[in-house]
Amino acid sequence: MTANFEQTLNIISLDGAAATGKSSTAHAVAEALNYLHVDTGSHYRIICYHLNEKSIHPIESPELLAALNGFKVDTILKKNSVLFEIDQREVESDDLRSYTVNTQVSQFASLKPVRDFLLRYQRSLVNFARRNHFKGMIVEGRDIGSVVFPDATLKIFLEADESTRIARREKEGHTDVINERDTIDATRKLSPLTCPKDALSINTSRLSLDEVVSIILKELSQKDESK
Ligand code: DC
Repeated sequence: MTANFEQTLNIISLDGAAATGKSSTAHAVAEALNYLHVDTGSHYRIICYHLNEKSIHPIESPELLAALNGFKVDTILKKNSVLFEIDQREVESDDLRSYTVNTQVSQFASLKPVRDFLLRYQRSLVNFARRNHFKGMIVEGRDIGSVVFPDATLKIFLEADESTRIARREKEGHTDVINERDTIDATRKLSPLTCPKDALSINTSRLSLDEVVSIILKELSQKDESK
C-alpha cells in the first residue's frame, strides 16, 4: 500500500535561469493541480540571509559548518506552498530579495556544505508532501531535474530573452544582478544550472502565463496517459 502510494506522487521539476518565469508558473501549475509548490531558490536565499546575519563569508570554513549544523529547520505549509524556516523565524520577502542577498546568494549556493544541506532537506519534502496528502509537487530551481529529483515525472526548463528578463525584474522593483548570478550558477562545479537532456524547454518571452501553464498541463496529462 505504501509502496503504491509512493509511486503515485508526481514530481514536476521546473528549472531555469533568473527571471525566466519560474515562480509564477510553478505557483499557477500548483494551484491548477493542487500540488505542493516548492521554491528552492528561496531556500538558498534564506540560508544566505541567516549566514550573512552571522557575518559568515561565502567560503568553506569551520564557522560555516558550525552555523549549518546549528540551524533548526522547520517546514510550514502556507496554502499549498512550502515555507522553509530557520530557527523559527519567517524572513520578510523584501529581505530575501535585498541587494545584499541578490549579490551573495550564488556564492553561498556554490559551496558543497550548503548544497548538501539543502539537497537533504529538499528530498525530505517528498515525505512532507505525502503526509499532507498532495498528489504531487512542482519544484522550481536550477538543479531539480538534474540532481535533486533526476527521476521526476516531468522535467521543464524555462528560458527567456535577456531583455524580457531584465524588464520582469524592473517591473518587480528589485535591484538584481541576474547576469552575474546566471554566470556563477551556470559555471559552478557543483550542480550547475543546466537543461536536463530529458526536459521540455519552453521559451517564455512571447508567451502568456496561461499559455506556459497549458503547455505544462498538456505535457503532464500525456505522461499520465502513457503510464
Ligand atoms: O530562484 P532564485 O533566483 O530565487 O534563486 C536564488 C539563487 O539560489 C540562484 O541565483 C542560485 C541558487 N539556486 C541554486 O543554486 N539551486 C537551486 N535549485 C535554486 C537556486
